[in-house]
Amino acid sequence: MSGNTSHWQSRTVLVTGAGGFIGSTLVDILVRRGASVRAFVRYNSRDDHAHIEDLDRDIRAEVDVYSGDLQNPEAVAGAVAGRDVVLHLGALIPIPYSYRHPREYVFANIDGTINVLEACRQRDVSRVVQVSSSEVYGTAQTVPIDESHPLNPQSPYAATKVGADQLALTYQRSFGTPVVLARPFNTFGPRQSQRAVIPTIITQALTRDRVELGALSPTRDFTFVEDTASAIAACGVASEVEGETFNFGTGEEHAVGDVATRILELLGAKLPVVATDERRRPPASEVARLVADASKARARLGWMPATDFETGLERTIEWVSRSLERFRPAIYTI
Ligand SMILES: NC(=O)c1ccc[n+]([C@@H]2O[C@H](COP(=O)([O-])OP(=O)(O)OC[C@H]3O[C@@H](n4cnc5c(N)ncnc54)[C@H](O)[C@@H]3O)[C@@H](O)[C@H]2O)c1
Repeated sequence: MSGNTSHWQSRTVLVTGAGGFIGSTLVDILVRRGASVRAFVRYNSRDDHAHIEDLDRDIRAEVDVYSGDLQNPEAVAGAVAGRDVVLHLGALIPIPYSYRHPREYVFANIDGTINVLEACRQRDVSRVVQVSSSEVYGTAQTVPIDESHPLNPQSPYAATKVGADQLALTYQRSFGTPVVLARPFNTFGPRQSQRAVIPTIITQALTRDRVELGALSPTRDFTFVEDTASAIAACGVASEVEGETFNFGTGEEHAVGDVATRILELLGAKLPVVATDERRRPPASEVARLVADASKARARLGWMPATDFETGLERTIEWVSRSLERFRPAIYTI
């Protein structure tokens, strides 16, 4: 894993999407590294700060929670004020929901990103990290996928990520905004929601008599959440990387069906794994293969994943097992 621990001491940082799966893990890591962290969470009338609430009490006490909506420029400008580094993770991310309401993705992911970029341009931050996704590449045309792979988004979600990424890079070229693009491949670990494949497999395996998934053959490169969060942190402080894009993944490829089999083995459960039409993506939208070439991140940022797949699965199983009340395995969560 990349170093950079000392770089965060007393740095003022804004994390958007901080109540989310990766964002909350990143907040945890940055507070532990000594940063002064403002956490942008989506407002709700319950004053519920999502996964920020799950952090250890002493960590939570250090976090300046800022509620708002990324689609509101004034809210974003207020959040960026006084911040040195901005790590922009806030986004609508479930792919199946993006088929249902694509425009919401334009609002959250594109409008939201331009609000962040504008605020950073006005406020003279030292770094803004736009968090992208491997989904922008679509099915691998060459493997492993490096940063020069063509962009071929196959879902409305991925299209808005391409749009947001290109805006960010354009701000760097046009205005000198110090943008870095972090492009994680699939991420998994504690606090991930049931819409993602690994928590879906685990919850079904723990509570049902069969595991029902979409297609079993697509392959993905799964990185443990702490490694993805460390990757984003590394992009926040590395020198001479403005305007650069970095892929983050392990380089290991796992078919969805094989992941289910491995999880069932780890749980000691003998259940059938079946593909159902309900969970399948439209055929031309299905991304068949994603596997990362992260050698640029290794060379320029010193980033390497620290948690192997098996250990990550065990830690995720442990978390899901004691958090089952948060999941609804009987229904298909999009
Ligand atoms: N999970 C993965 O496998 C993965 C892989 C690659 C890239 N990413 C990227 O990492 C980032 C974080 O993903 P995650 O898995 O933690 O997702 P998540 O859904 O857990 O977190 C996203 C957060 O953004 C917030 N958000 C969405 N719209 C908002 C709005 N309009 N205003 C304020 N907040 C808003 C949500 O409330 C949520 O807390 C995203 O940008 C995603 O595209 C995720």
